[in-house]
Amino acid sequence: MANSDKKYSAVITAVGMYMPEKVLDNAFFESIVDTSDEWIMTRTGIKERRMLENGATSDMATKAALDLLKSKNMSPEELDLIIIASVTPDMFFPSTACLVQGNIGAKNAWGFDMNAACCSFLFALNTGAQFVQSGTCKKVMVIGADKMTSITDYTDRNNCILFGDGASAILLEPSEDFSLGLQDAILRVDGDGRENLYMKGGGSLNPPTHETVDKKMHYIYQNGKAVFKVAVKGMADVSYEIMQKNNLTADDVKFLVPHQANLRIIDATAKRMGVGSEKVMINIHKYGNTTSCTIPSCLTEYYRDGKIKKGDKLVLAAFGAGYTWGSTYLVWAID
Ligand code: COA
Repeated sequence: MANSDKKYSAVITAVGMYMPEKVLDNAFFESIVDTSDEWIMTRTGIKERRMLENGATSDMATKAALDLLKSKNMSPEELDLIIIASVTPDMFFPSTACLVQGNIGAKNAWGFDMNAACCSFLFALNTGAQFVQSGTCKKVMVIGADKMTSITDYTDRNNCILFGDGASAILLEPSEDFSLGLQDAILRVDGDGRENLYMKGGGSLNPPTHETVDKKMHYIYQNGKAVFKVAVKGMADVSYEIMQKNNLTADDVKFLVPHQANLRIIDATAKRMGVGSEKVMINIHKYGNTTSCTIPSCLTEYYRDGKIKKGDKLVLAAFGAGYTWGSTYLVWAID
C-alpha cells in the first residue's frame, strides 16, 4: 500500500515474549553428536537454545500473548485480529491462531496462521499492518512462535545444533503520525529454492506412513552450504536495497534487526549496509534459530533493556526456506 493510500500508519505499541526454561547448551550437543563448542561458536555464533519439554507451539504463543497484554494492561477482548507466524503449528487444522484466541479469551478477534518459513514473522507483520493501515482493524497481534525441536533430528549434527523453541508477540495499532511505524517493505519468494531446505514428509505430497517416519522425512532437511550462500546474498542485498529506496545512511539506522540463523550471515548483512556490530540486534547466542520468533524476541529484549526509543529507525531483515526473504523499514513508536 503506497503511503498516500494509507488511512493510518501501523505502529508497534507493545511487545511480549516467552522462552521455555530448559537450556540445551553446546556441551549437550558434544554429548550426543560428533561436534564441539568451538565449531558451533565459530561457525554459527550459537551457545545455547531453549527446548519446550511439554506442550506445543500454541502454549508458547499463548504465554507470549499474555505477557504482551499484561505489559500493556490491556484486555484480550480488545483484540481484532491474531496472526500466528509459524512453521510448526500444533496441527494442520484448526489453525494455531484459533487455539491462541481461545486460550487467551480474545472473543472479538478473528485470526489465521501464516507460514513463510524463517520469513514468517516479517510477512505476517506486513500483512497485519495492511489491516491497520486501511482502517479495517484497530488492534492486531502478530505472534512469531515455533517449536523447532519438534522437527529436529538429534542425530544430524549439521542441523540439530542450529534450532531452538520460543514465542514472541507484537501489537500493531493505527497512528495518524506517519513518521512513526512501518514505513516500507521489500518481500520476495523464489520457489526454485524449495529443495535446499524443507520438510519432506507429513504434507499431502508425502502423507505420514511408517515408511516416511523410518526415512526421517518429518525432520528439517537442509543443504546448509547452498542455503548459506543465497542467504548471505539475499539478506544483505535486500537490507541494502531498502536503505537506498528510503535514502537511509548507516548513520540513520539505529539497529539492524536480522533473522538469527547464523552470525556469519548477520555479519555479512551488517557489512553490506555499512553498519557496525554495535548496531545489530543479536540474541542468537542465547536461543539459536527460533525461526518465526527471532525478530520479535530481539525487538522485545532490546526495548525492555532500554536500548530502543521512540523515533529510532530500524531495518528488519530475514531469509528462509522457499526461498523467502525480505526487509522492512520501521520507526519505533514506544517511549
Ligand atoms: N560439528 C562439527 N562439524 C560439523 C558440524 C557440527 N555440528 N556440522 C557440519 N560439520 C562439518 C561438515 O560435515 C563438514 O565436514 P567435511 O568438510 O568433512 O564434509 C564441515 O563441518 C564443514 O561443513 P559446512 O557445511 O561447509 O559448514 P559451514 O561452515 O557451511 O556451516 C552451517 C554449516 C549449517 C552452520 C551453515 O552452512 C549455515 O548456517 N547454513 C545456513 C543455515 C540457515 O541459515 N538456515 C536457515 C535459513 S533461515
